[in-house]
Amino acid sequence: MTGGGTGIGLAITRALVQAGAHVTIVGRDLARLDKVRSELANVSTLQADLAVKTERERLVAEVSSQDRPLDLLINNAGIMQYFALADDRALDRLDTELALDLHAPIHLTTALLPHLLARPEAAIVNITTGLIYAPFGNTPGYSAAKAGLHGFTRSLRWQVRNTNLKVVELMPPAVDTNMTRRYDGSKTDAASIAKALMQGLANGVDEVRPGQTKALYAMSRLAPAFIFRALNKAVDKTPLD
Ligand SMILES: NC(=O)c1ccc[n+]([C@@H]2O[C@H](COP(=O)([O-])OP(=O)(O)OC[C@H]3O[C@@H](n4cnc5c(N)ncnc54)[C@H](OP(=O)(O)O)[C@@H]3O)[C@@H](O)[C@H]2O)c1
Repeated sequence: MTGGGTGIGLAITRALVQAGAHVTIVGRDLARLDKVRSELANVSTLQADLAVKTERERLVAEVSSQDRPLDLLINNAGIMQYFALADDRALDRLDTELALDLHAPIHLTTALLPHLLARPEAAIVNITTGLIYAPFGNTPGYSAAKAGLHGFTRSLRWQVRNTNLKVVELMPPAVDTNMTRRYDGSKTDAASIAKALMQGLANGVDEVRPGQTKALYAMSRLAPAFIFRALNKAVDKTPLD
């Protein structure tokens, strides 16, 4: 579970532990990960900055050498930056955001695929966003990364369709976590997103669209230009980073 120390990742970690799983949580802040480990049974921690390729390679090597088999990979770690593309730092920001939100899940998925395919039953969960249906104009790196991950997830699902590997995409709506602390619209709680994912996994659902994502999905089919404009007008007040 990447980014398992906070927010949605932590809520899913709790749900998985409750269901009997052993979960290895990954992030940069080892103290925070260790705090979770001390509070929950059956949790291990691994520190890695997933925006850095060599750190991802080290993580894959460590996971691959563990005695415990890997049945489930959850690509959850992510950042979302509000910035203008005309900003001087825009290119650096895009690099970091694409590295973490797009390259990291693609890298981990591809490198760990042989382990997952060797299991009698396994799953990969990629966490994108309801915003793949109507992207925010002021989060251009995030929008690009999540749309890219959505496409990659569909390609992957196609390639492994005749195997025991299930490929699931979780598309949360606005959730009350560190990531959305400056967004003042309505937000749901992370525990309800974890519950929706657990139900989706149990029911064999490919794309899990909790709460408002379901409505956003429907609106994006019925009136895509309207919903894009309405959503962006509503969040345009959120200050840029
Ligand atoms: N909150 C929402 O409204 C919402 C909506 C749709 C989708 N999502 C998606 O849900 C996922 C989780 O987000 P969240 O809302 O739970 O936010 P969050 O609480 O900020 O969690 C992000 C996690 O990613 C980890 N992370 C950040 N940079 C990292 C790096 N370079 N290397 C390794 N780990 C890193 C963080 O741990 P460290 O700081 O310890 O590294 C943290 O645990 C993201 O993919 C996000 O796009 C969120």
